Amino acid sequence: SPSDPDLVERARAAKEKLGDKVFVLGHHYQRDEVIQFADVTGDSFKLARDAAARPQAEYIVFCGVHFMAESADILTGDDQKVVLPDLAAGCSMADMATAEQVAECWDVLTEAGVAEQVVPVSYMNSSADIKAFTGKHGGTICTSSNARRALDWAFEQGEKVLFLPDQHLGRNTAVRDMGMSLEDCVVYNPHKPNGGLTADELRAAKMILWRGHCSVHGRFSLDSVNDVRERIPGVNVLVHPECRHEVVAAADYVGSTEYIIKALEAAPAGSKWAIGTELNLVRRLANRFAAEDKEIVFLDKTVCFCSTMNRIDLPHLVWALESLAEGNLVNRIEVDKETEAFAKLALERMLALP
Ligand code: 13P
Ligand code: SF4
Repeated sequence: SPSDPDLVERARAAKEKLGDKVFVLGHHYQRDEVIQFADVTGDSFKLARDAAARPQAEYIVFCGVHFMAESADILTGDDQKVVLPDLAAGCSMADMATAEQVAECWDVLTEAGVAEQVVPVSYMNSSADIKAFTGKHGGTICTSSNARRALDWAFEQGEKVLFLPDQHLGRNTAVRDMGMSLEDCVVYNPHKPNGGLTADELRAAKMILWRGHCSVHGRFSLDSVNDVRERIPGVNVLVHPECRHEVVAAADYVGSTEYIIKALEAAPAGSKWAIGTELNLVRRLANRFAAEDKEIVFLDKTVCFCSTMNRIDLPHLVWALESLAEGNLVNRIEVDKETEAFAKLALERMLALP
């Protein structure tokens, strides 16, 4: 949607008034009207690092979703305040693993006699509670750009990994990137007694995948890939690793949002691309590269925006910036101290990965 000129001017004025006191981070899935005010854009890994690298900014305005703002709060100093312009900007995947469910899962693993061999690896897309659980049990966080390195590290620490909460990123990394077989992976369903698994199945598994997924990426199908190949001969199919395994297996390239952008930057003129990730990013890339004669289409026309990412719109951003400029700290995201300490341990293990 074209930005309202009045709101654009108000956002600009409030940002100018705040000066160095504010630092605005924008995830690649944000709307164009919001991205134009981001001091940096990035995938969740880059943004986590960038938030921590700005100690002079009193306010970090996070244009993204709740778990990202929590991670920024964990990684920044106590005197830095993280603001999420709309508190309803959550992530349905992160909500699929609650602290109670994960504690229960650990009991199941303990009873099966495998907990001691298990290292938890949690995707960035998880609540601070889940990150704290991960830190407490000797595990690490990962993002879609370092999942392979995180798993390599985890298998040096133990024989099995409990991967939370995105089964697809876990399976795709293990099978596509690390050469494990589908049989090495089992799925723990938090809605079933004992996760729906027997103790023998838990003992045999290398990867215990939490039954979570992204509602946006989960909608790309093998048909989407086959259809686009038929429609556009010679097309390169490039998808995010949150897509289902059969989609990733049929794609030509797989990677995080940052990887997708770099791949398109490096692509030759005249090349054709079908992209399987969130629509705001794909549209922005299609517009950006049209002038360089790179044809970029959305992998499946029926899949759309991430509705929670889209909750951050220009009116919410203007409201947050103007409130801060008037000295009102609104929508602060603050993780409690104990959770923060353990979650930070897990995040720092990720940041220290080779
Ligand atoms: P990345 O930006 O790390 O690729 O993550 C995608 C995503 O779904 C964030 O919610
Ligand atoms: Fe969560 Fe998927 Fe939206 Fe990312 S795209 S914030 S994983 S629901």
